[in-house]
Amino acid sequence: MRLLAIETSCDETALALVECSGDLENPRFKVLESVVASQIPLHRRFGGVVPNLAKREHLKNLPLIFEKIGGESLKDITDAVVVTVGPGLEPALWTGIEFAKGLAKRWKKPLIGASHLQGHLYSFLLERKESLEDVFPSASLVVSGGHTILLILQSLVKYKKLGETRDDAAGEAFDKAARLLRLPYPGGPEIEKAAKKGNSEAVAFPRPMIYEKNYDFSFSGLKTSLLYHIKQSFKADWKEFNKNYSQNGIKLENTDDVAASFQQALVDSLVYKTTRAAREFQTKSIGVSGGVAANSLLRNSLKKEAKKLGIAFLSAGKKWNTDNAAMIAVAGYVNFLNKKRLKIEAQPNLGL
Ligand code: KG4
Ligand code: ZN
Repeated sequence: MRLLAIETSCDETALALVECSGDLENPRFKVLESVVASQIPLHRRFGGVVPNLAKREHLKNLPLIFEKIGGESLKDITDAVVVTVGPGLEPALWTGIEFAKGLAKRWKKPLIGASHLQGHLYSFLLERKESLEDVFPSASLVVSGGHTILLILQSLVKYKKLGETRDDAAGEAFDKAARLLRLPYPGGPEIEKAAKKGNSEAVAFPRPMIYEKNYDFSFSGLKTSLLYHIKQSFKADWKEFNKNYSQNGIKLENTDDVAASFQQALVDSLVYKTTRAAREFQTKSIGVSGGVAANSLLRNSLKKEAKKLGIAFLSAGKKWNTDNAAMIAVAGYVNFLNKKRLKIEAQPNLGL
């Protein structure tokens, strides 16, 4: 069946047309169209996402992208419409939901609700050709701008949350650190870029909660350490530095080293606990998804750990880890196969 999926939960307006087939043990996907209109340049000057601006942009972009991928002519080749119902920014979610409702009604097609987090979790399926026979149990890490969750998957639809962040999400920590380092929003890719030129052993940042027995994470202490480090570096100039908070003001001399050290500390905590879960639960794979999974250090470190354990590494290419609508089609298809119905209304706090 062909699904037309719509994603507007945060600052990307995305539409995709995906051919879906197979069952829960062997689902198959072929992305026929996928367009993402990013609002990053718009939100950049505010240093983060502004919900009402996001809503306005979604309203503007949705009809444009819809036309771009075929518009009304898609009616005859679409079997159902899928839309993200949560979690996310409420005003942003509603724009996609209203658009999807309108389409489904006009075209007389079923409307399927999907979870944004399940979209991330299942994104590895977009590029997978083999069946899921040798995948479960899987230790799976979902790391985005709003979430950091570690799960054990027994199957695509049976899973247990092992732990999550107690404060900032991993992506949020990258974004806040970038702000402190005077790097643009979103911070993850910027820190990664700077880190490539830096020495990751230059600053000894803490690895939060690494030795605690639970599977939770915490990144606010790491952010505070970074702030102290910057404060100390500037000493007398601190007031001047702090005044230029969101401008292209004074920068640390060794921004690249600090970025590399920060990235290493954050990635170490994620990798340590994910690998420990894989060992303890004797999983057959390690998975990672969400925007932060686009980070090469995180991907390569988890891949290396999986190799050491002799198990598979599951992650789609970088393009499918940051927000897109193809992953929402996958989540919609899994709900369809699993006969799970989500209420078609904005659910800003929908959990996994
Ligand atoms: O999944 P996503 O696109 O949106 C949410 O669902 O939140 O994730 C966005 C987050 C941002 O915090 C961004 O800084 C982070 O993912 N991110 C990265 C990288 N690319 C995006 N973090 C680290 N390294 C990257 N290359
Ligand atoms: Zn996301």
